[in-house]
Amino acid sequence: MSGPNTNYDPVEVALLRPEAVSAAVDAALDAISHASSLEELKSVRIAHVGDRAPLSLANREIGALPPAAKAEAGKRVGAARARINDAMQARQDELTEARDAAILVQEAVDVTLPTQAGPRGARHPLALLNERIADIFVAMGWSVAEGPEVELEWLNFDALNMPASHPARTMQDTFFVAPEESGVLLRTHTSPIQIREMLRHEPPLYIVCPGRVFRTDELDATHVPFFHQVEALAVDKGLSMSHLKGTLNAFAEAMFGVGITTRLRPSYFPFTEPSAEVDLQCFVCRGASAAGGDPCRTCRSEGWIEWGGAGMVHPKVLQVCGIDPDIYSGFAFGMGVERTLMFRRDVRDLRDLIEGDVRFSHFFGGDI
Ligand code: FA5
Repeated sequence: MSGPNTNYDPVEVALLRPEAVSAAVDAALDAISHASSLEELKSVRIAHVGDRAPLSLANREIGALPPAAKAEAGKRVGAARARINDAMQARQDELTEARDAAILVQEAVDVTLPTQAGPRGARHPLALLNERIADIFVAMGWSVAEGPEVELEWLNFDALNMPASHPARTMQDTFFVAPEESGVLLRTHTSPIQIREMLRHEPPLYIVCPGRVFRTDELDATHVPFFHQVEALAVDKGLSMSHLKGTLNAFAEAMFGVGITTRLRPSYFPFTEPSAEVDLQCFVCRGASAAGGDPCRTCRSEGWIEWGGAGMVHPKVLQVCGIDPDIYSGFAFGMGVERTLMFRRDVRDLRDLIEGDVRFSHFFGGDI
């Protein structure tokens, strides 16, 4: 440290005296070492390094000194400010490190703690089966068509060759939208979608129509008052029963395994002629139980399972839709999706399907 500065002329500057400079350094270092947070250090910086800090004010005085005194005073003040800045930086680093370490502790996640996972949902097995059926037909180049659940009576019955007096109409006990003569009902089958599509599009047509239908059936293990059907319709030149049979067999194989076949039994639907009941070869015993093999629960040892209805589209239905039956022919079939799920997944009671218990969907459906 230099001795008394005799070069000051004519006035000694109090702020630049060595003892004043060293007192300012001591005060700054003391304040820096006592700052216990970055916020406190910020206040210390303003007080000891800022514009109004003693050494900043002293620094401003240097310019007014006589040249001989400038160098020594500048050196002293510069060294003092450098000490303070170094101490400030060192404390800043310490406090930053301490703050980061504290945040890491505060925000630590204990990955070993047991979780409180909420209950998981599951896709309903019917929704999955409907999608699968649609996928099978889309893969064959068919389109998916849909229609409204609240339907015109004319589309649900009359256009399908079931006029008001037709006895078959009572086979599908109907929920009417009040009043009963409103001409509006909850569709009893997916066949009105056929009519809508044939009215809307020229052949060729290859469509699959999944949908919910409604009937006043009593709720029991094999009947529900609303259920799902899937309908298939093809209209083109030269279609015959053999195309119907081939499509049914392709559908059966895709759903139940290679080699599973179908058989047709004569039946009656007003909108198809000829009409048939479709039976599916039992996909569990493949008919062996009916031929004297072990008993089979799936087909009740009959070798065949009733699957749905089918037939060649009635010429009158084609005509109603403006399609010339001399040029075009069509085939159609329709299945109950709940009943398909029943024998496919061995569901014993249809009521389980509509109760909405997610455990059922977890077991038979798909986890989300
Ligand atoms: C029909 O509904 C015709 N539209 C099917 C059809 C389409 C025939 C195209 C020809 C050509 P049916 O009334 O049989 O047919 O019903 C078809 C299927 O719906 C039945 O095989 C059965 O699986 C299912 N089903 C009928 N009633 C119920 C019910 N109450 N609960 C659950 N499924 C039912």
